[in-house]
Amino acid sequence: MSLKGKTIVVTGASKGLGLGIVKRLCEEGADIIAHYNSGDISAAETLAREAGVAFQAFRADLSKEDEVLRLADQICSCGEIYGLVNNAGVCLFEDFFDVTPESYDFTFNVNVKAVFLLTQKIAQKMAKDGVQGRIVNFSSITSLSGSATQVHYGAAKCAINGFTHMAAEALGQYGITVNAIMPGPIPTKHNSHFLKNEDTKAELCGRIIMKKYGDPENIADAVMYFLGERAAWTTGVTLPVDGGYLAK
Ligand SMILES: NC(=O)c1ccc[n+]([C@@H]2O[C@H](COP(=O)([O-])OP(=O)(O)OC[C@H]3O[C@@H](n4cnc5c(N)ncnc54)[C@H](OP(=O)(O)O)[C@@H]3O)[C@@H](O)[C@H]2O)c1
Repeated sequence: MSLKGKTIVVTGASKGLGLGIVKRLCEEGADIIAHYNSGDISAAETLAREAGVAFQAFRADLSKEDEVLRLADQICSCGEIYGLVNNAGVCLFEDFFDVTPESYDFTFNVNVKAVFLLTQKIAQKMAKDGVQGRIVNFSSITSLSGSATQVHYGAAKCAINGFTHMAAEALGQYGITVNAIMPGPIPTKHNSHFLKNEDTKAELCGRIIMKKYGDPENIADAVMYFLGERAAWTTGVTLPVDGGYLAK
C-alpha cells in the first residue's frame, strides 16, 4: 500500500517542516490538501503541479475557533481523507514573567485546540467513510527538555504528547492511528533567529549526539513512516527525531 492517490492534509504547508512534508508526499504520489495562514502557498502548489498530484489549498488562522471549524468543513467536503499531519505551530520566545493571558491563549489555541478540533472532525469523517486513516501530530523536544523562555510553548507541546496518547486510545477502534513527532532543532522561520546565533548553535550541537542541526527532510522521513504501511500497528507513540538530543 503506497501513498499514491491517497489524500493527505498538511497544516502549515507554506514553509519550514510543512513544506518539506509536502515535497516528500509529492514524491510519493499523494494528493495534497494544504493549509496555510499568512504565508505564501505557491511553493507547495508548484511542487504538486510538477509531481502531477491533486492539490487544494485552504487558508485559516488556527488561533481562531471559527476559522478552524470552517477549515475542517472545507477539508471534509473534499472526499475521502487518508491522512492528517497537524504540523502548524507557533513558538513565542518570552520570559516567564512576560507571558500574558493573550500570548498563552494564542500559543494554546494554535498548538493544541486547533489540533484537537481538526483531529476530531477529520477522524469522524474517516470513521464514517470507513477509512483506516493516519493522524500525525507535532510535539517538540521542548516538551521533555524544558526551556525557560518557552514555558507556554513547552506546556502546549506536553498537551500534544497527552492528546496523541488519548486520541490513539479513542480512535483505535476505527483502525485510525495517532502518533506524534518531537523534532529537535531544525532552522526554519519558527526559530532561525535563535538557532543561527553562533553561541546557541555551539551549545545545542554540543548536546546533540549527531553534532548538527536537523533538516526538514529528517522530519518528513518520520512522517512518511507514520503515514505508511509499515506503521500499521504503531499508535500512541511520540517519537523524538532529534539527532539524539533527548538520549544524551
Ligand atoms: N523547527 C524546529 O526546530 C522545531 C522543533 C520542534 C518542534 N517544531 C514544530 O514543528 C512544527 C513546524 O515548525 P516549523 O519549524 O516548520 O515552523 P515555521 O517555519 O515557523 O512554520 C510554521 C507553520 O505554521 C503556520 N502557522 C503559524 N501560525 C499560524 C496560525 N495562527 N494559523 C495557522 N497557521 C499558522 C505557518 O503558516 P503561515 O506561514 O502560512 O502563516 C507555517 O506554515 C511546529 O508545530 C513546531 O512547533 C519545530
